[in-house]
Order: sequence, then C-alpha cells, then structure tokens
Amino acid sequence: MNRLRRSLGAKLLVAQLLVVIVGSLTLLLVAVTAGPWLFDRHLQGRLGAVPASLDAHIHAAFEDALGTALLGAVAVASATAVVISVLLTRRIVAPILRLADAAAQIASGRFGIQIPAAGEDELASLARSFNGMSAALAATEQTRTRLIADVAHELRTPVSTLDGYLEGLADGVIAPDTGTWDTLRDQTRRLSRLAEDLALVSRAEEGRLQVHPVATDVAQLMQAAVQAARPAAMSSGINLSATSRPDRMTVLADPERLHQVLGNLLDNAIQHTPAGGSVEIVADQTPDAVRMAVIDSGEGIPPEELERIFTRFHRLDPARTAVNRGSGIGLTVARALVSEHGGQLTAASAGPGHGSRFTITLPRAPARAAGEGDHVRSPVEAGSDPVHEQQS
Ligand SMILES: Nc1ncnc2c1ncn2[C@@H]1O[C@H](COP(=O)(O)OP(=O)(O)OP(=O)(O)O)[C@@H](O)[C@H]1O
Ligand SMILES: [Mg+2]
Repeated sequence: MNRLRRSLGAKLLVAQLLVVIVGSLTLLLVAVTAGPWLFDRHLQGRLGAVPASLDAHIHAAFEDALGTALLGAVAVASATAVVISVLLTRRIVAPILRLADAAAQIASGRFGIQIPAAGEDELASLARSFNGMSAALAATEQTRTRLIADVAHELRTPVSTLDGYLEGLADGVIAPDTGTWDTLRDQTRRLSRLAEDLALVSRAEEGRLQVHPVATDVAQLMQAAVQAARPAAMSSGINLSATSRPDRMTVLADPERLHQVLGNLLDNAIQHTPAGGSVEIVADQTPDAVRMAVIDSGEGIPPEELERIFTRFHRLDPARTAVNRGSGIGLTVARALVSEHGGQLTAASAGPGHGSRFTITLPRAPARAAGEGDHVRSPVEAGSDPVHEQQS
C-alpha cells in the first residue's frame, strides 16, 4: 500500500517538476537569446547612443535582475509543484487506498463493507459502484448461506425417515409390507421432488426460466387449469369454478408456464380450504392489464405473512405442511414466472379463517396479437372437458 502511495505520489511529482523544468528552460532560452537584443533595442529607442562604460553597467544590471527573477520564478514554481503534487496525491491516493483495503476485506469474506463516496468526481462514482457491488455480494452470500441451511433442513426429515425404516427393516422390527414400501417410496419421491423444485427455483432466481410468450386465450387457460385441479378438488369436497369477464380476453404469455402458475395457486387453495369450501378463478381486465385471481374460502393468511409466503421454503405451518409434502417453493417459482412475463403476483386475505386471494396481473396482448384469434394458444386442447363457466 505504501508502495502505491509512493509510486503514485512520485509519479505526480515528477510530472509536475517536468512541467516546471521545461517551462524554466524555455524561459531561460528566450531570456538568453531574445532578451539582450530586445533590451538593447528598447534602450536605444529611449536614450539613443549610450556611452560604453554606462552600457556595460546597464547590461550587467539587466543580466543580474533577469537571473534573480528567473531563479525566484523557478524556486516558486518548484515549491508550488511539490505542494500541488502532495495535495493531489492525498486526494487521489487516500480514496484508492480505502478502496484497495475494502476490496482486500471482501476477498477475505467480509462482504457488504461500504466506503465513503461523497462528491461527484470519478473517484466518488467508483466508490459508489464499489459499494453497490459489495452490497450485492453480501445479498448473494446471505442467499447462498440461507439456501444451504434450508436445503439441509428440508433433507433432514425424509433422510431420517428412510434411515429409521431401513434400520427397522434390517433389524426385523418393521415388516416389509405394502405400507412400509409406500412410506419408503413416498420419502424418495419427496427427495426427488425437492431436487426438481430446487433446480427450478434456482433457475427462477437467476432469471433463467425460459418463457415463450404468445397471444393466449385467458378463458381457455383457466379452463385447462381448473380441469387439471378438478380431481384434487373433488376428493377434498371443494367446489371449483371459473368466471371470466368478459369471456374473450387475451394475454401475451407462455401458456405452459402460466398453466403451471395457476396450477400452483389452485393446489395451494385446495390444500388450504376445508371440505365444503369453494375455490374459484376470476378473470377481468383493465385498459392495460388482465387480472386472474384465485380465490378460496379457506384458512386465510395473516397480514404479516402475505409477503413472506413468496420467500422460498416459507410455510405458515411447517409441521402440517410437512405431512402434505409441500416444500414451500411453489409461490416463489410462481412469482418468478409471472415477473418473467412482465406481470405481478400478489396475495391478499382478510385474515385467518377468511379465505385468500392470489392475483396475477399481466399486460394485455397488443391489439394485433389479440386479433389473431385463430392462432391463440392454450395449454390443452380446447373443449376436452368443459368447465363450469359463470358469465357475469
Ligand atoms: N391459498 C392459501 N391459503 C392459505 N395459505 C396459503 C395459501 N397458499 C399458500 N399458503 C401458505 O403459503 C405457504 C407457501 O406456499 P407455497 O406454494 O410456496 O409452498 P407449499 O405449498 O407449502 O409447497 P410447494 O408448493 O412447494 O409444494 C404454504 O405453505 C401455506 O402456508
Ligand atoms: Mg404450493
């Protein structure tokens, strides 16, 4: 670091002194070559012929004054150069040293360190960029650490169940019957689903989920999602319906990805609604956007959890959800997919016991794309199993 200070400071000083030396030499050259001639001309113009003895004195005085003035000027210029280089060195080197020091701390794992970035010059802008980079690194590191902890936590339950069962089987304490094989298979499925979900969520967080938007018919999309969720709704005794107002709406979206999002939301709604309750998808539009809301009459969500549930692995009731084998990743992926479409996914609830509403807002397809009625795509063949549609 001291070497940096020395070398940058020395370079600045040498540059300044070079300017002083070149300036002084030029001055000296002009003074020696043109000075006496100009002085003589001026003297003769004013006084005419000057006696030889006086002329010698006058010239000696002139050279003496010129020499003294030149020496003084060189001394003042050199001193100024030294002072300016010291000041400049301090002003430039101090922030660079701070930056180098902070970079070394980041390299040793102390992410998030910030340095002063006052002012408008290039060094201040460099410091601001550095601070931004440092904050981003800290956030990434925090995500990485949390992800490892979350994954370890998620792995623990199925692995310990498998371990316990295998040990019981080996000792002959557990019978190798259908129930045992089902439990073992359930746990391995849970592990492989976790692996798939993790791959999906990491792609989503890096913005690498591929989305291929086309003009997509909203009613068909809803119909396909309801159709896929119907068996689960029926076996849970839940009334499932779809309402679209107006019945003809088009969004620019990837139908398969949007089908996946609606599927996630319907799965959640069905899982968190008791028998006899209702789940419906309602669609409407504003001048610029199409909204699709999945509304259930189920458990509801406390206000402080409405944002947190979109964080990966976050579940309101981990113990109960563990039985349902949810990893707490569905909403993270759903939100990432909707964002990838340029839209938003938000949650609302009047509180526990009052149901929930998850709203997808997507930009409307431009008129030209929406007009291509015959080419509008849906995730499944239309008309394979009509859904109960209420027009209002
Ligand atoms: N409709 C809903 N009503 C009440 N709570 C909900 C609803 N949807 C989601 N939640 C809460 O939000 C949490 C996160 O949902 P998310 O879909 O991300 O995960 P999951 O359903 O637990 O697991 P996964 O979807 O990965 O299988 C759920 O565990 C649940 O506690
Ligand atoms: Mg879910």
